[in-house]
Amino acid sequence: MYRSHTCGELRLTDVTKEVTLAGWVQTVRKLGAAITFVDLRDRYGITQLLLDEKLNAQLDNTPLGREFVIQATGIVNERTSKNANIPTGDIEIAVTSFKILNKSAVPPFTITDETDGGDDLRMKYRYLDLRRNAVKKNLELRYSVNRSARNYLHENSFMDIETPFLIKSTPEGARDFVVPSRMNPGQFYALPQSPQTFKQLLMVSGYDRYYQVVKCFRDEDLRADRQPEFTQIDCEMSFVEQEDILNMFEGLIKRIFKDVKDIDYTEKVERMTWEDAMWNFGNDKPDIRFGMKILNLKSAFLKGGSIQASGDLINGANFAVFDNAETVLAIAAPGCSEYTRKQTDELTDWVKRPQIGMQGLAFIKYNTDGTLKSSIDKFYSEEKLKAIAEATNAKPGDLILILAGREERTRKAMSELRLEMGKRLGFRKDDEFKLLWVLDFPLFEYAEDDNRWVARHHPFTSPKPSDIATMIDNNPVIENADKYLEHPYSNIKANAYDMVLNGNEIGGGSIRIFQRELQEKMFAALGMSEEEAQHKFGFLLGAFEYGAPPHGGIAFGFDRLCALLGGSESIRDFIAFPKNNSGRDVMLDAPAAIDQKQFDELQIKLDLKD
Ligand code: AMO
Repeated sequence: MYRSHTCGELRLTDVTKEVTLAGWVQTVRKLGAAITFVDLRDRYGITQLLLDEKLNAQLDNTPLGREFVIQATGIVNERTSKNANIPTGDIEIAVTSFKILNKSAVPPFTITDETDGGDDLRMKYRYLDLRRNAVKKNLELRYSVNRSARNYLHENSFMDIETPFLIKSTPEGARDFVVPSRMNPGQFYALPQSPQTFKQLLMVSGYDRYYQVVKCFRDEDLRADRQPEFTQIDCEMSFVEQEDILNMFEGLIKRIFKDVKDIDYTEKVERMTWEDAMWNFGNDKPDIRFGMKILNLKSAFLKGGSIQASGDLINGANFAVFDNAETVLAIAAPGCSEYTRKQTDELTDWVKRPQIGMQGLAFIKYNTDGTLKSSIDKFYSEEKLKAIAEATNAKPGDLILILAGREERTRKAMSELRLEMGKRLGFRKDDEFKLLWVLDFPLFEYAEDDNRWVARHHPFTSPKPSDIATMIDNNPVIENADKYLEHPYSNIKANAYDMVLNGNEIGGGSIRIFQRELQEKMFAALGMSEEEAQHKFGFLLGAFEYGAPPHGGIAFGFDRLCALLGGSESIRDFIAFPKNNSGRDVMLDAPAAIDQKQFDELQIKLDLKD
């Protein structure tokens, strides 16, 4: 061994011991000719080395630079001036001998918590970035989430089974990454978007509790919470109903909270239907750390559905913006009635940004003295304004913000505005965690471009038992695209669930279809011919003929979960070697062109379209 101890280990109780440390030079400080202090760093911490006059002469011949790798032997001494900021701050090593194990070029940025390196530079030299404490902490957190999950799943009889990466497409709604096959010229594997069909086949094989911490590959537009290759904690169980899955995996997340953050999440995880989430929060992954529910003054949401807003509060005022709008939504921002003109103008500009895409923002100030002032008081009496304010549950002192326009865009914009106000008002704290199950998603979504149904989750998700007959008895064809909401399929609910943490989808799953006939009906509903279904999923349909048990499962976004537990929304910080926003690994400079020889072996001729 090159060392007797790590750089994070020694304390006052070790004083007088002879020790040998090995690590990287963080800093070198010379005090006159006689003394040099070296901060030596490894994965475990930093220890101060003291090099006396004799060793200083050696330093003159071979100076130490930042990030040099050295080995030093010496005696542990109590420091005269202690450093309370580091755990080893009470001691230092009076070095008796040291050796340079390897030199280092001057690093392109400082290896410190607050580094001077920009994002691109740090990614190019990720192996240096990973030496930084801040990044190391993230990877440590990731490892403890991994360990905690594995322990819980193991204790609950789940078995880790690997599934292949070179496969045929599994549809999860993204594009596939494809890999050409040299031995089968002109044919391609797809990398799995998830191990979905394999875990279902494992259920057919009788491995009734499966899990895997597994890489998934999706060629989709990237965002802070999306990477082209990411990791799932992927799970599946046989002989279960939705309630069993919710309980088992609520348990998993609570265990992770306890093990990783020492948080006792004792309360039951809240549940909300998809309809309620959309209606009250404007999206299917509401952040329930705060209220500010949306008031639907007028709405075209689920025209054929059970919840409808009448528009009574705003109709009849001859205000064209509201009269012509499909949907008018409001929220009350607590304590904001004293917003200045400048502040309301700034918020108006905020909703007009292309990412939000609204034409304007109306507001009502519900003053603390009970009076009201509004950007729309030309059209609405004070009495009416008060009625609107109170319908949003506003109290004196609040500011009511109102958006009007097309249903989908307005709902989305209001959801964003609510989150933005929540952030500005300090309601979205990184160290507060609120879990939520979102249930009863629609089984199908209407794809306007192709005038057909697509699976909202994936095609293996079963409808709610009470909706199976509707699915079987009705023809999926949409005769009139304008009236797709009146088609019985738009009301079919899925036996699916998402787990949401602080407004982020951290997991999703479903109870699966396990009978061949229903699976065939599903493929047909998605516009697949029998031949196509057989060609793509013959293996699964075949397996369903040999005693498939009822089963269901879930997959958690492991990177996302880690990022949120670490107080960040960017999953890149929690991945050792992530890709940038263009899907590039800037360190490897990948993707890259390949040799002509490789093309020849694959029998592929490159003919790039412009
Ligand atoms: P789903 O597609 O919902 O379900 O994925 C499960 C979870 O994976 C995370 N996730 C991602 N994380 C980072 N980058 C991405 N590009 C990305 N895409 C998804 C999310 C999501 O909740 N086979 C099903 C699961 C099942 O039905 O059991 C599936 O993959 O946190």
